[in-house]
Amino acid sequence: MIIAVDGPAASGKGTIARALAKHYGLPHLDTGLLYRAVGLHVLREGADPSIAADALAGCRFSDAMLADPQLRSEAAGAAASVVSAHPAVRAALIERQRAFAARPGGAVLDGRDIGTVIAPHADAKLFVKAAPAVRARRRHEELRGRGLETSFDRVLLDIRERDRRDTLRDHAPMVQADDADLLDTTFMDIEAAIDRALALVEARIRMA
Ligand code: DC
Repeated sequence: MIIAVDGPAASGKGTIARALAKHYGLPHLDTGLLYRAVGLHVLREGADPSIAADALAGCRFSDAMLADPQLRSEAAGAAASVVSAHPAVRAALIERQRAFAARPGGAVLDGRDIGTVIAPHADAKLFVKAAPAVRARRRHEELRGRGLETSFDRVLLDIRERDRRDTLRDHAPMVQADDADLLDTTFMDIEAAIDRALALVEARIRMA
């Protein structure tokens, strides 16, 4: 069984994907980490994420980097969003993601284009969204919890900027697949969102 979970930054998609993976005993891939590794590699090389050749060179990151705590930084997230707009970068990362989705027994993947590009035949697809101000509040609290002082307005601005870039890019933009179930978590806490996600996936499996 393949489960695709897509949605914007801080929508809750990562937490939901992990909970689904645990529930069904499936391996989970956070595909954003791959783009973050490219972005961080580019930044550490002192290169420019907006230049295609620099971004493509960043795809040669080492696997050890996937465990780097700096991948969770706002700088890595912003760089990831910029490098991910280059078609060559997306192409370089596609096989790794498809191979993960093709694991015997199945997998859960979360990202922006899982239901549309990486696993269009997934058994269940969720598109998780929430109002930008709500996502910014969650992200702001998370950052403060990690001891990173930043203003709410700054976080909201970053979220809007990232949404704009991820949605408007020409290649594999973030979009809800036609056959994905929409899960709006604006007025839900994470427990309610996970319960709803499980119910939606169960309904899809029963339909199959
Ligand atoms: O999910 P995230 O915030 O860790 O993703 C970081 C960036 O990576 C996101 O802004 C766009 C890019 N990304 C992508 O283009 N496609 C994916 N499947 C996952 C992430």
